[in-house]
Amino acid sequence: MCGIVAYIGRKPAVPILLEGLKRLEYRGYDSAGIAVLGQCGLSVVKALGRVRRLESLLEERPPLAGSLGIAHTRWATHGEPSDRNAHPHTDGPTEDAGGHGIALIHNGIIENHASLKRYLLEKGHVFRSETDTEVLVHLVSELYQGDIENAVRSALREVTGAYAIAVLCEEEPDRLVVARKGSPLMVGVGKDEYIVASDSSAIVAHTTQAFTLDDYTVATLTRDSFRTTTLDNVPITPEIRELEFSLEQIELGGFEHFMLKEIAEQPHALRQCLKGRIDTREGQVVLGGVSQYARELVRARRIVFLGQGTALHAGMISEYIIEDLAKIPAEYDFASEFRYRNPLVEEGTIVVAISQSGETADTLAALREAKARGALALGIVNVVGSSIARETDAGVYLRVGPEIGVASTKAFVGQLAVATLLGAFIGRRRFLSQDVVSRLLDELQAMPDRLEQAVALSDHIREAAARYVDRENWLFLGRGCNYPVALEGALKLKEISYIHAEGMPAAEMKHGPIALIDEGMPVVFVATHNSQYEKVLSNIEEVRSRGGHVIAVATEGDTHLPSLCEEIFFVPDVPEQLQPMLTVVPLQLLAYHAAVLRGKDVDKPRNLAKSVTVE
Ligand code: G6P
Repeated sequence: MCGIVAYIGRKPAVPILLEGLKRLEYRGYDSAGIAVLGQCGLSVVKALGRVRRLESLLEERPPLAGSLGIAHTRWATHGEPSDRNAHPHTDGPTEDAGGHGIALIHNGIIENHASLKRYLLEKGHVFRSETDTEVLVHLVSELYQGDIENAVRSALREVTGAYAIAVLCEEEPDRLVVARKGSPLMVGVGKDEYIVASDSSAIVAHTTQAFTLDDYTVATLTRDSFRTTTLDNVPITPEIRELEFSLEQIELGGFEHFMLKEIAEQPHALRQCLKGRIDTREGQVVLGGVSQYARELVRARRIVFLGQGTALHAGMISEYIIEDLAKIPAEYDFASEFRYRNPLVEEGTIVVAISQSGETADTLAALREAKARGALALGIVNVVGSSIARETDAGVYLRVGPEIGVASTKAFVGQLAVATLLGAFIGRRRFLSQDVVSRLLDELQAMPDRLEQAVALSDHIREAAARYVDRENWLFLGRGCNYPVALEGALKLKEISYIHAEGMPAAEMKHGPIALIDEGMPVVFVATHNSQYEKVLSNIEEVRSRGGHVIAVATEGDTHLPSLCEEIFFVPDVPEQLQPMLTVVPLQLLAYHAAVLRGKDVDKPRNLAKSVTVE
């Protein structure tokens, strides 16, 4: 949700900033802008639309020279997407002149912007945009007394809300000030240069050494030094660590889209996720991240999974997995709902926050609420060092590699694998025999190969998608563990192809949605062999008798279903708890091909952002 990149060093800033923006564009892409401070002073260029539009504007004008700059790609919160509302915002009466020549980029929301704006209007400030960010740059300007670092610190003490910001000031041409509360920000430490960004994908091409800024922290960077302090100017020493992924992992590598690349990567991602976590000889699960809480896990009275979007669907399946394997009451909740409904957290409640990015604002807020009420908080997170990872008491990383396509795919498979490992970890310490656990773990280890088979369905699925791609309403149905998979299939289809799709438990269809079914309506069933298979067959008949066209994900070797379906995608036969990892793949591919066939921008769907850092 908004991408921030900033550079101070000895190289020309513009190419580095533009390259960083392109890498961060998945975070928001309705407008983009850049400010560079060079010998001719401050220059600002902003444009509605994608980064490539900003790039062509820059090509048309004299080059922006300078080795200090900030750049931003926006996902609008306050004020429509427009040139005017794009960042950077400046404090002068015109874009790049007047005031103190302060330019600022921001990710997050300044909640008290209205009262601050009233105060600043009284002081004579003139505003040119409808954004909360512009209020912040004027506040910094109002408090500026010759030291930009102090002015930023003073301004941030007046602000409520969330922010990651980067600020530069024409009167101090050798300093870049960055700060954070609630929205992610990292500082890459190179030789005589620093690259600041919302995430490491914009840093890794330049340096693999970086530190994450803590909340309420300000960093001031010059070309060859930095200093970090709290908002009250107490010095702190950040921990510089080695970034764990390579440039290759964040490039398309011959695929047309990141989403397709990430679907295809799932077998490998699962291997990475499982690596070192299964002791094959002993038939045991090794989860270093949570082992110090083994006792609490075994004695837990209730485990609550929290997340949003795809991560929530993984939480729903985790409920089945944990109840089945660990025999502990489990539930899931939308993090956004949990937080505001005065949740009951009794002794023995463990909360598990699931998040790919580790930055989803609702999930983070729910996690804090649960902790404040005394819950032990665990995380199932992909991004190392992210806010959720840092604020949980312990957790298990997904290790599926960076996920760049806005629609989450491989993270989902990783989340399910971790939930299964957690279930087996607790279950073996409670009621599960070694035999049962060993068999499950053998099956889990065979899953990457089975995922390869599911991924290989791509061509067949493209042909099927082509036959239905013009239909504007779809249903996705499943029972048991397959019900959240149906929800996930519907979510994938709507988010990238803009087709209206609804997922629900198959039995629920009779209670209203069946009225929607007419001749040729696509109804997707996740109908693998499991304890509810026979019941699903009856639901399929109900759809057929009303003219609906059935598209099914089925278990290899099923001889009955083909005669009932217009399209069928077979996946290998695996135990019920592991089926969602496999059955989701044809649905991801169906959504992908439908979106491509409809000419949509798969990796940057309209109105969406990969990491939703506002509540
Ligand atoms: C956004 C993304 C979804 C994602 C959800 C949760 O809505 O578009 O793909 O599932 O956020 O994100 P998280 O990073 O917490 O898993």
